[in-house]
Amino acid sequence: MNTQIWNNYRVERHPVGKGKKGNIFRGYDAINKRDVAIKRMKDIEGARKEAAIMKEYSRHDFLPTYYDFFIDERYAYIVMEWIEGKSMKKNKKKLKSKQALTFTLKILDGLHHLHKSGSVHSDLHRGNIMLLAPNYKSLKIIDFGNGKLIENKAHKYPHDLSWKQVKDQSRDLYRAAALCVYMLTGKRPQNERDIQDITIKNKELRNVLVKALSIEKANRYQTAQEFKQALEPFLNK
Ligand SMILES: Nc1ncnc2c1ncn2[C@@H]1O[C@H](COP(=O)(O)OP(=O)(O)OP(=O)(O)O)[C@@H](O)[C@H]1O
Ligand SMILES: [Mg+2]
Repeated sequence: MNTQIWNNYRVERHPVGKGKKGNIFRGYDAINKRDVAIKRMKDIEGARKEAAIMKEYSRHDFLPTYYDFFIDERYAYIVMEWIEGKSMKKNKKKLKSKQALTFTLKILDGLHHLHKSGSVHSDLHRGNIMLLAPNYKSLKIIDFGNGKLIENKAHKYPHDLSWKQVKDQSRDLYRAAALCVYMLTGKRPQNERDIQDITIKNKELRNVLVKALSIEKANRYQTAQEFKQALEPFLNK
């Protein structure tokens, strides 16, 4: 195989993913005997921020695990868990309601953990969600390049959350709700008005999604946990 060596990693020459901010390469960590994904970026400060967010949330089933960070003269490199899977964007079909809800609950679980660690994602869309091989029944949220980490530890005390942080969390939850509607119906609502024209058979489920997509932020679910609790009962209906 055509490989190169970066630090301790043997890395494939061709990137597996090309993004606006950098390229993703598949590599192998011979010391820890594991596959890794390496995000190589020109924006070194941006990469430092992205790595800091991943380091802070540490480990969670629905988020990629952070391993390492290094720089050379030209690039910064974030080393993380290799995720075998495909982008949710490649899934063209709408999903069965149970699968759509299962995915949404996993996304909310991941967001809950991320928010608790003091960060927000800020770029939640299908291209930043990977479905896991071999059966594509679970997922991981990727790409913290637009994320924000609050420096002080005010997030440990919810009443100290800054107004800005609350607003950013609310945006993540809103995007999760829009994704849920897309998975259920194949349609993309911008807000609660659009959802009026979208058919969701279960009226109570529809009400939960209308609330989550409220134009008025104060009317939405305020935390990932709260939104999750509202959705959970529909899994078994
Ligand atoms: N941990 C990983 N394991 C395997 N593949 C990954 C991993 N992280 C990212 N990828 C692949 O690389 C692609 C781009 O990753 P990511 O979204 O993090 O980069 P980006 O530069 O921020 O992209 P964009 O600007 O397009 O959002 C993903 O769609 C996915 O196919
Ligand atoms: Mg991306």
